[in-house]
Amino acid sequence: MQEVGRTLVYFGHSAFLIKSSSNVNILIDPWISNPINKAKIEEFTNRVHYILITHGHDDHVGDTLSIAKAFDAEVITNHEIANFLHFKGLNKLTGMNTGGTYRKDNLSFTMVEATHSSTIHDGERMIPGGNPVGFVVTLEDGYKLYHMGDTGLLGSLPMIAELYKPDILMIPIGGHYTMGPQEAAYTVSIIKPKVIIPMHYKTFPLIDVNLEEFIEKLSPAFKDRVIPLKPGDSYSF
Ligand code: NI
Ligand code: MN
Repeated sequence: MQEVGRTLVYFGHSAFLIKSSSNVNILIDPWISNPINKAKIEEFTNRVHYILITHGHDDHVGDTLSIAKAFDAEVITNHEIANFLHFKGLNKLTGMNTGGTYRKDNLSFTMVEATHSSTIHDGERMIPGGNPVGFVVTLEDGYKLYHMGDTGLLGSLPMIAELYKPDILMIPIGGHYTMGPQEAAYTVSIIKPKVIIPMHYKTFPLIDVNLEEFIEKLSPAFKDRVIPLKPGDSYSF
Protein backbone atom coordinates (compact mmCIF):
# COMPACT_ATOMS: atom_id res chain seq x y z
CA MET A 1 0.00 0.00 0.00
CA GLN A 2 1.33 3.44 -0.89
CA GLU A 3 2.22 5.42 2.17
CA VAL A 4 0.85 8.96 2.29
CA GLY A 5 1.64 9.92 5.86
CA ARG A 6 -1.31 8.44 7.70
CA THR A 7 -0.59 6.53 10.90
CA LEU A 8 -2.60 4.45 13.31
CA VAL A 9 -1.24 3.94 16.85
CA TYR A 10 -2.63 1.26 19.17
CA PHE A 11 -2.73 1.71 22.95
CA GLY A 12 -4.31 -1.64 23.76
CA HIS A 13 -7.96 -2.67 24.27
CA SER A 14 -10.03 -0.39 21.95
CA ALA A 15 -7.81 2.70 22.17
CA PHE A 16 -6.32 4.11 18.96
CA LEU A 17 -4.75 7.32 17.72
CA ILE A 18 -5.31 8.19 14.06
CA LYS A 19 -2.85 10.71 12.60
CA SER A 20 -4.15 12.02 9.28
CA SER A 21 -2.01 13.15 6.36
CA SER A 22 -2.60 16.81 7.25
CA ASN A 23 -1.68 16.12 10.89
CA VAL A 24 -5.14 16.06 12.41
CA ASN A 25 -4.99 13.70 15.39
CA ILE A 26 -7.99 11.68 16.50
CA LEU A 27 -8.13 9.47 19.60
CA ILE A 28 -10.77 6.76 19.88
CA ASP A 29 -11.91 5.19 23.19
CA PRO A 30 -8.85 6.51 25.04
CA TRP A 31 -8.39 4.06 27.92
CA ILE A 32 -4.67 4.71 27.77
CA SER A 33 -4.18 3.56 31.40
CA ASN A 34 -5.42 0.03 30.57
CA PRO A 35 -3.33 -2.77 32.15
CA ILE A 36 -1.76 -4.00 28.89
CA ASN A 37 -0.48 -0.62 27.70
CA LYS A 38 2.68 1.22 28.67
CA ALA A 39 2.82 3.66 25.73
CA LYS A 40 2.02 7.34 26.19
CA ILE A 41 0.25 9.67 23.77
CA GLU A 42 3.14 12.15 24.05
CA GLU A 43 5.49 9.61 22.45
CA PHE A 44 3.50 9.98 19.23
CA THR A 45 2.15 13.51 19.19
CA ASN A 46 1.82 16.66 21.27
CA ARG A 47 -1.59 17.54 19.82
CA VAL A 48 -4.94 15.74 20.03
CA HIS A 49 -7.71 17.46 18.09
CA TYR A 50 -10.60 15.03 18.56
CA ILE A 51 -11.59 12.28 20.98
CA LEU A 52 -14.30 9.85 19.86
CA ILE A 53 -16.11 7.77 22.50
CA THR A 54 -18.22 4.79 21.38
CA HIS A 55 -20.16 4.21 24.62
CA GLY A 56 -20.29 4.96 28.33
CA HIS A 57 -18.38 2.01 29.79
CA ASP A 58 -15.22 2.79 31.77
CA ASP A 59 -12.96 0.83 29.44
CA HIS A 60 -13.96 3.20 26.58
CA VAL A 61 -14.52 6.59 28.22
CA GLY A 62 -11.18 5.76 29.82
CA ASP A 63 -8.97 8.80 30.43
CA THR A 64 -11.10 11.19 28.37
CA LEU A 65 -11.44 13.85 31.08
CA SER A 66 -7.72 14.28 31.73
CA ILE A 67 -6.71 13.95 28.06
CA ALA A 68 -9.37 16.36 26.78
CA LYS A 69 -8.22 18.95 29.33
CA ALA A 70 -4.50 18.40 28.74
CA PHE A 71 -4.77 18.68 24.93
CA ASP A 72 -7.82 20.99 24.70
CA ALA A 73 -9.40 18.32 22.48
CA GLU A 74 -12.97 18.28 21.15
CA VAL A 75 -14.93 15.24 22.29
CA ILE A 76 -17.36 13.67 19.83
CA THR A 77 -19.77 11.13 21.29
CA ASN A 78 -23.46 10.42 21.74
CA HIS A 79 -25.77 13.10 23.15
CA GLU A 80 -26.00 11.55 26.64
CA ILE A 81 -22.26 11.04 27.18
CA ALA A 82 -21.60 14.56 25.84
CA ASN A 83 -24.01 15.97 28.44
CA PHE A 84 -22.37 13.88 31.19
CA LEU A 85 -18.92 15.19 30.23
CA HIS A 86 -20.28 18.75 30.23
CA PHE A 87 -21.39 18.24 33.86
CA LYS A 88 -17.85 16.99 34.55
CA GLY A 89 -16.36 20.26 33.31
CA LEU A 90 -15.61 19.76 29.61
CA ASN A 91 -16.73 22.42 27.13
CA LYS A 92 -15.47 21.35 23.70
CA LEU A 93 -18.12 18.74 23.11
CA THR A 94 -20.12 17.59 20.11
CA GLY A 95 -23.03 15.30 20.93
CA MET A 96 -24.66 13.45 18.06
CA ASN A 97 -26.63 10.30 17.42
CA THR A 98 -26.73 7.17 15.30
CA GLY A 99 -26.94 7.80 11.56
CA GLY A 100 -25.53 11.30 11.75
CA THR A 101 -22.32 12.66 10.22
CA TYR A 102 -20.30 15.52 11.72
CA ARG A 103 -17.94 17.30 9.32
CA LYS A 104 -14.97 19.44 10.40
CA ASP A 105 -11.37 20.05 9.26
CA ASN A 106 -12.17 18.25 5.96
CA LEU A 107 -12.83 15.09 7.95
CA SER A 108 -16.12 13.42 8.69
CA PHE A 109 -17.28 11.34 11.61
CA THR A 110 -20.27 9.09 10.96
CA MET A 111 -22.01 7.43 13.88
CA VAL A 112 -23.28 3.92 13.12
CA GLU A 113 -25.09 1.43 15.33
CA ALA A 114 -23.54 -1.07 17.74
CA THR A 115 -25.39 -3.78 19.67
CA HIS A 116 -24.21 -3.42 23.25
CA SER A 117 -25.09 -1.28 26.29
CA SER A 118 -23.78 2.13 27.39
CA THR A 119 -24.24 2.77 31.10
CA ILE A 120 -21.92 5.38 32.60
CA HIS A 121 -20.28 4.50 35.90
CA ASP A 122 -20.09 7.67 38.02
CA GLY A 123 -18.74 6.92 41.47
CA GLU A 124 -21.47 4.95 43.30
CA ARG A 125 -24.05 5.62 40.59
CA MET A 126 -24.87 4.10 37.19
CA ILE A 127 -26.22 6.67 34.70
CA PRO A 128 -27.95 5.87 31.37
CA GLY A 129 -25.39 6.61 28.66
CA GLY A 130 -27.53 6.61 25.51
CA ASN A 131 -26.94 4.08 22.76
CA PRO A 132 -23.60 2.42 22.03
CA VAL A 133 -22.18 3.27 18.61
CA GLY A 134 -19.37 2.68 16.15
CA PHE A 135 -17.63 5.38 14.09
CA VAL A 136 -16.73 5.57 10.42
CA VAL A 137 -14.00 8.20 10.16
CA THR A 138 -13.39 9.60 6.68
CA LEU A 139 -10.03 11.33 6.37
CA GLU A 140 -9.38 14.38 4.18
CA ASP A 141 -8.18 12.14 1.31
CA GLY A 142 -11.30 9.96 1.45
CA TYR A 143 -9.66 7.07 3.29
CA LYS A 144 -12.12 5.42 5.70
CA LEU A 145 -11.57 3.75 9.05
CA TYR A 146 -14.40 1.94 10.80
CA HIS A 147 -14.04 1.47 14.59
CA MET A 148 -16.88 -0.83 15.63
CA GLY A 149 -16.83 -0.01 19.35
CA ASP A 150 -18.17 -2.86 21.48
CA THR A 151 -20.70 -4.83 19.46
CA GLY A 152 -22.20 -8.15 18.54
CA LEU A 153 -23.37 -8.94 15.02
CA LEU A 154 -25.21 -6.10 13.29
CA GLY A 155 -28.13 -6.34 10.87
CA SER A 156 -26.84 -3.18 9.23
CA LEU A 157 -23.43 -4.63 8.25
CA PRO A 158 -24.34 -4.99 4.54
CA MET A 159 -25.56 -1.38 4.46
CA ILE A 160 -22.46 -0.08 6.23
CA ALA A 161 -20.31 -2.06 3.79
CA GLU A 162 -22.13 -0.77 0.70
CA LEU A 163 -22.55 2.83 1.78
CA TYR A 164 -19.16 3.55 3.39
CA LYS A 165 -16.78 0.88 2.02
CA PRO A 166 -14.40 1.03 5.01
CA ASP A 167 -10.70 0.60 4.15
CA ILE A 168 -9.58 -0.26 7.69
CA LEU A 169 -11.75 -2.18 10.13
CA MET A 170 -11.03 -2.07 13.87
CA ILE A 171 -13.00 -5.04 15.18
CA PRO A 172 -13.58 -6.59 18.61
CA ILE A 173 -12.70 -10.29 18.72
CA GLY A 174 -12.55 -11.04 22.46
CA GLY A 175 -16.05 -12.49 22.95
CA HIS A 176 -18.02 -12.42 26.23
CA TYR A 177 -18.85 -8.68 26.08
CA THR A 178 -18.66 -8.39 22.29
CA MET A 179 -18.51 -10.63 19.27
CA GLY A 180 -15.90 -13.36 19.37
CA PRO A 181 -13.70 -14.88 16.64
CA GLN A 182 -16.55 -16.59 14.76
CA GLU A 183 -18.82 -13.53 14.59
CA ALA A 184 -15.86 -11.26 13.86
CA ALA A 185 -14.75 -13.45 10.95
CA TYR A 186 -18.30 -13.36 9.56
CA THR A 187 -18.36 -9.56 9.92
CA VAL A 188 -15.12 -9.29 7.94
CA SER A 189 -16.67 -11.36 5.12
CA ILE A 190 -19.43 -8.74 4.80
CA ILE A 191 -17.40 -5.53 5.28
CA LYS A 192 -14.48 -6.74 3.12
CA PRO A 193 -11.93 -4.24 4.47
CA LYS A 194 -8.42 -3.88 3.03
CA VAL A 195 -6.93 -3.95 6.54
CA ILE A 196 -8.23 -5.70 9.65
CA ILE A 197 -7.08 -4.58 13.12
CA PRO A 198 -8.31 -6.83 15.94
CA MET A 199 -9.11 -5.17 19.29
CA HIS A 200 -10.85 -5.72 22.63
CA TYR A 201 -9.08 -9.01 23.46
CA LYS A 202 -6.43 -10.16 25.94
CA THR A 203 -6.90 -7.10 28.19
CA PHE A 204 -8.37 -9.20 31.03
CA PRO A 205 -9.14 -12.90 31.65
CA LEU A 206 -12.74 -13.00 30.33
CA ILE A 207 -11.61 -11.83 26.90
CA ASP A 208 -8.40 -13.85 26.73
CA VAL A 209 -8.85 -14.90 23.10
CA ASN A 210 -5.87 -15.81 20.91
CA LEU A 211 -5.48 -13.98 17.65
CA GLU A 212 -4.95 -17.33 15.89
CA GLU A 213 -8.53 -18.39 16.74
CA PHE A 214 -9.79 -15.41 14.77
CA ILE A 215 -7.40 -15.75 11.83
CA GLU A 216 -8.24 -19.47 11.55
CA LYS A 217 -11.92 -18.60 11.01
CA LEU A 218 -11.27 -15.98 8.30
CA SER A 219 -11.63 -17.05 4.69
CA PRO A 220 -8.23 -17.30 2.90
CA ALA A 221 -8.67 -13.99 1.06
CA PHE A 222 -8.72 -12.07 4.34
CA LYS A 223 -6.10 -13.87 6.43
CA ASP A 224 -3.18 -11.75 5.20
CA ARG A 225 -5.11 -8.51 5.71
CA VAL A 226 -4.88 -8.83 9.50
CA ILE A 227 -2.44 -6.39 11.08
CA PRO A 228 -1.96 -7.48 14.69
CA LEU A 229 -0.87 -4.47 16.73
CA LYS A 230 0.58 -4.69 20.21
CA PRO A 231 0.12 -1.75 22.59
CA GLY A 232 2.55 0.96 21.51
CA ASP A 233 2.74 -0.29 17.91
CA SER A 234 1.98 2.01 15.02
CA TYR A 235 0.93 1.23 11.48
CA SER A 236 1.44 3.56 8.51
CA PHE A 237 -0.94 3.44 5.57
NI1 NI B 1 -18.59 -1.95 26.70
MN1 MN C 1 -15.58 -2.75 26.37
